[in-house]
Amino acid sequence: MTRILTAALVLAFATVAQADGAATFAAKCKMCHGAEGAGGAMFKGSIKGKKEADVLKVINEGKGKMKPVKIDDAAAVAKYVSSLK
Ligand code: HEC
Repeated sequence: MTRILTAALVLAFATVAQADGAATFAAKCKMCHGAEGAGGAMFKGSIKGKKEADVLKVINEGKGKMKPVKIDDAAAVAKYVSSLK
């Protein structure tokens, strides 16, 4: 029983992290990268499914014309982007 409860809790937290990543993406990345990272005003290419570590690096350090983005849940956003299909 405890095990099932723990599993359910872990799953619930994972889902929340995912949802937060999506919300932050919509607020901080979507204007340049489009809905779900499919391509947008500033970057035409898709960033869907890119490696989590690479996305995190770009968020924190920037890349080319993209400046670093200061957000608390960069890890959740990186996870969200890498999970997009
Ligand atoms: C002001 C517009 C802007 C915002 C906001 C922005 N980006 Fe970018 N992003 C760019 C541009 C432009 C590039 C291309 C940089 C280059 O290579 O010159 C880029 C590149 C990237 C890349 C690398 C793509 C590749 O194939 O090389 C990733 C990953 C990425 N952005 C993720 C994000 C995430 C996640 C966020 C939100 C936290 C975000 N970006 C916010 C404009 C933006």
